Amino acid sequence: ISLLPYNTFGIDKKAKFFSIASSEDDVIAAIKAASSKNLPLIVLGGGSNVLLTQDIDAWVLKIDIKGVQATQIDEEKIEVAVGAGEVWHDFVIHCIDQGWAGVENLSLIPGTVGASPMQNIGAYGIEIKDVFEKLEAINRTTLELETFDWNECKFGYRESVFKNELKDKYIITKVFFVLNKNPNFNVSYGAIQETLDQMGESPLSIRKISDAVIYIRQQKLPDPKKLGNAGSFFKNPTISTDQFVELKSKFSNLPGYPVEDGVKVPAAWLIEQDGWKGKTFGNIGVHKNQPLVLVNYGNGEGKEIAKLSKSIQESVFQKFGIMLHPEVNFL
Ligand code: EPU
Repeated sequence: ISLLPYNTFGIDKKAKFFSIASSEDDVIAAIKAASSKNLPLIVLGGGSNVLLTQDIDAWVLKIDIKGVQATQIDEEKIEVAVGAGEVWHDFVIHCIDQGWAGVENLSLIPGTVGASPMQNIGAYGIEIKDVFEKLEAINRTTLELETFDWNECKFGYRESVFKNELKDKYIITKVFFVLNKNPNFNVSYGAIQETLDQMGESPLSIRKISDAVIYIRQQKLPDPKKLGNAGSFFKNPTISTDQFVELKSKFSNLPGYPVEDGVKVPAAWLIEQDGWKGKTFGNIGVHKNQPLVLVNYGNGEGKEIAKLSKSIQESVFQKFGIMLHPEVNFL
């Protein structure tokens, strides 16, 4: 079966076997079926963070477990349990409609709820870890449903335990968030404040923040329905303060944001300064508004995109001595 409809890069590669899970039992059935065929089981959420470089000799499982259940914790707080297959942005809009605050800054992020803790999705000053309570996941070996609390997920910048120690060991089926009826607006990100100012006087609300985020994202990020892409292709690298100071003496307008273990520099800036922004190579290229995004103009191959990403890594390393690491998973 072709995985074309199941990845936002729009790459036409095949899976040997494919099924869709709309329940935990379906997930368990797929684990058993793949193992009886001696095939690896590869899980897809929205397919918005993968690059298919070849046909997949595996069982590919698309998670489509639905459902949103809310429980009032106290006057302010609501616990919301969400099926892993719910579309992330639809969930965000549902929260805004209900007046539940906490995820409005994460509007329009592609992908599913189940994939969100996997890489601790984040944007505009918020990460999923800020609203996350716990999740349920099926242990691929024992087939038991287990619960992981906040600490056990070991969240980091675009990281969790499920990308590291527990990689390929669990399948996330449900995610629990704690949201708030009294919004605690986060407009620390410059672009949000600017957009809100342009939007006029009316009082701040979670819907306004969501609208501002949607507007900003639509300005610079290509819509995967129209142009194949997987969002940011690389993570923003953190370098030592010493290296930052040294680079700054050569590249005086290098942006940088102090973080715990050094200075985070925008990969987009490095790629742009290195001359890649908007470059096209046959069917693929580097996006013209946001060079951190690699795009497939149609009929592009995952292998070509992988090769381009490698060229970018090498040339950025040559120029700045900084190694970029992909955020996207290669399959
Ligand atoms: N920049 C350039 N040229 C450009 C665009 C950006 O030099 O064409 C530089 C500028 O210095 C700018 C800085 O990059 O100030 C940051 O740009 P932007 O606000 O667009 O954020 P980003 O670092 O490119 C990150 C996330 C995005 C998230 C935005 C907003 C990563 C890898 N990416 O992008 O997440 O939406 O911040 O918070 O952390 C994703 O993960 O797929 C993703 C889209």
